[in-house]
Amino acid sequence: MKTLRLGILGYGTVGQGIVALLQKNQLSWQDKTGCNVVVTAIAKRNWDGIDKPVGIDCINDATAIVNRDDVDVVLELIGGEEAAYELILRAIENNKHVVTANKALIASKGREIFARAAEKGVQVAFEASVAGGIPIIKSLKEGLIANEINSVAGIINGTSNYILTAMRNEGRAFGEVLKEAQDLGYAESDPTFDVEGIDAAHKLTILASIAYGVALDLDKVEIEGISHIAPQDVRYAETLGYRIKHLGVALRRPEGIEIRVHPTLVPETALISKVDGVMNAVRVFGNAVGETLFYGAGAGSLPTASAVMADVLGLVTNLTAGHVSPLGYANNSNHSTRVLPVA
Ligand code: HSE
Repeated sequence: MKTLRLGILGYGTVGQGIVALLQKNQLSWQDKTGCNVVVTAIAKRNWDGIDKPVGIDCINDATAIVNRDDVDVVLELIGGEEAAYELILRAIENNKHVVTANKALIASKGREIFARAAEKGVQVAFEASVAGGIPIIKSLKEGLIANEINSVAGIINGTSNYILTAMRNEGRAFGEVLKEAQDLGYAESDPTFDVEGIDAAHKLTILASIAYGVALDLDKVEIEGISHIAPQDVRYAETLGYRIKHLGVALRRPEGIEIRVHPTLVPETALISKVDGVMNAVRVFGNAVGETLFYGAGAGSLPTASAVMADVLGLVTNLTAGHVSPLGYANNSNHSTRVLPVA
């Protein structure tokens, strides 16, 4: 049986979820793919107070992981832009495939990363960067490929939705609920990304790029967050028959693609108004399929690990069956398939 060896950068909420999921599902992955997925090494700057997983090399130096010969795929889970960018490029130079959950990086530097990966014939996958456990990227690239997409809209930041839901259901103050979302591992390391709409803008940029074939361009997004919303705004909306939801909206217009994230009054009869807590929902309207709605956990340990591992296991099948380009467009895929190394 082939072995695919993972090196993980970062061991926070998502990294720990991946190790837990591996322990749970490793055998069923073998059955499904004919490949044994193992974690060779994990890098975390400071392991104090963290249980090190048994049988995995737990180190401090992320660069050492991208340089190791016994790592086939690098999982970038450290977040942030600069260090993650350098590490991903180094991994690509070293002919390693990359799976990342880093929406900020893909939204801002995705083009450079995909171009370099194409030159080297390696893959960069990023399902976990948008909407946590919902396979929205694969759905747009594969399941809905026959459609022209007219709109993509939905709740794509779990932390904001968690805060708005607690404000409505429990009348709790913004700051207190944000702290809870941070403790649960939902929020970004800089939570202003969540509450000011920046995280949603990163995700929507990625979705719009895939849905419409436009270049990744964060500057095109109109951004408003939820930090100015008070519990009385939420209650007042309710008396009028609405819920306040933070939405990302990307629409095809005759003059181009309109992309915006902002709080929205959603009628309480609409399905999306019932999406509460950390859950996300993305509504995609295609010119053949009509309306589709994707719902699931938008953040959290195992749901996000599910998306990361979907990419890893997808690599096994992609690499043997032919290449799918990063943004799902044939004109981006002018490089050859790299066959998985056998350990
Ligand atoms: N902070 C993000 C959220 C994590 O709350 O949606 C998942 O991308």
